[in-house]
Amino acid sequence: MTNPFYFQKKVAVTGGLGLIGSFLTRELVNQGADVIVIDDESKGSWKYIPDLQSKVDYRKGTLEDPQFAIQSMEGANYVFHLASRAYGVGFSQKNNFEMFRFNDLVNTHALDAIAAIKPIHSLVVSSSCIYPDDGPTPMSDSYPFSGEPEHVNWGYGWAKRILEQKAVIYQKETGIPITVVRPFNIYGEHYHWVGESSQAIPMLIHRLMLGENPMVIWGSGNQRRNYVHGLDCSRVMLRLVENGYFERPINIGREETVSVKDLVKRLAQFSGIKTEIQCDRTKPEGRFIKSADSKLLIAALGDDFEWKISLDEGLQRMLQWHQTTF
Ligand SMILES: NC(=O)c1ccc[n+]([C@@H]2O[C@H](COP(=O)([O-])OP(=O)(O)OC[C@H]3O[C@@H](n4cnc5c(N)ncnc54)[C@H](O)[C@@H]3O)[C@@H](O)[C@H]2O)c1
Repeated sequence: MTNPFYFQKKVAVTGGLGLIGSFLTRELVNQGADVIVIDDESKGSWKYIPDLQSKVDYRKGTLEDPQFAIQSMEGANYVFHLASRAYGVGFSQKNNFEMFRFNDLVNTHALDAIAAIKPIHSLVVSSSCIYPDDGPTPMSDSYPFSGEPEHVNWGYGWAKRILEQKAVIYQKETGIPITVVRPFNIYGEHYHWVGESSQAIPMLIHRLMLGENPMVIWGSGNQRRNYVHGLDCSRVMLRLVENGYFERPINIGREETVSVKDLVKRLAQFSGIKTEIQCDRTKPEGRFIKSADSKLLIAALGDDFEWKISLDEGLQRMLQWHQTTF
């Protein structure tokens, strides 16, 4: 359905072929925007939105190149900066310097381009990884940075913190709004499989489908996480920009959590695959509860915002994703 706010506006989406970006691109096309998709296809592809290829202005290239960053955003009224290198924690914790270097470079060029283009409003995507492992539960977006970012995403977390701070300084100096969001765990059937470096839900599903029995979970299995589907994450981003500028970074996450053990049980139930769960307590489980304080988000979205995809529906979509991917 078209939306007067985005209708015929030029909206640039960096990382527009990725998990969240491809949902965002489709939503924007549906709402009547003239979408510019910026991506280097290092991870994303047209696989999940092939019908949109002829409906958007595709500017293929890497934001590692500062000139390309500026050219790619030329003419944009709004910019959503999502491009980043993000893999599962197994990869991230072994490649902290590269995760920091690459993401900081790309973010710097994206912000330089935003400063040059001066869109009406931009949104840049940080992450819940900026929070320390020992912070309060639920994790609140109302406190300043403290300690080190999440241990398993240390380099990536620092690049995101720097992105946030640069965006705030730029906004304060120029008055041009840049909304900063901190998504928690986002999943969805537009996921691009990257083997052993894949994120938690796709990886659990893959192991289940391969017949792993018992399924071995790191830690107690009681560690709790909150999950938001990529479609809802993209709808949140659009609504936040539509609703104006928020001075503080905003969590995109839910307070409700599910234990990893329960997640595997649900996947087994929906797929009809019987499996035992074995918890390997010699392995780290990370922060025990990763839950988002979503008071600011709820206030910023407005009373009429509704989440569309429940966790159970999302998990079933992911099982279908597996069938079509492998
Ligand atoms: N998925 C999550 O759980 C999650 C959680 C917190 C934050 N985030 C953040 O949300 C944003 C989107 O995440 P996602 O899950 O959709 O990631 P994704 O990896 O699926 O998508 C990223 C996209 O950026 C593109 N890209 C990477 N490097 C590029 C470059 N140099 N130039 C141009 N394009 C480039 C990739 O090809 C890909 O299409 C990222 O900034 C990520 O850090 C994601």
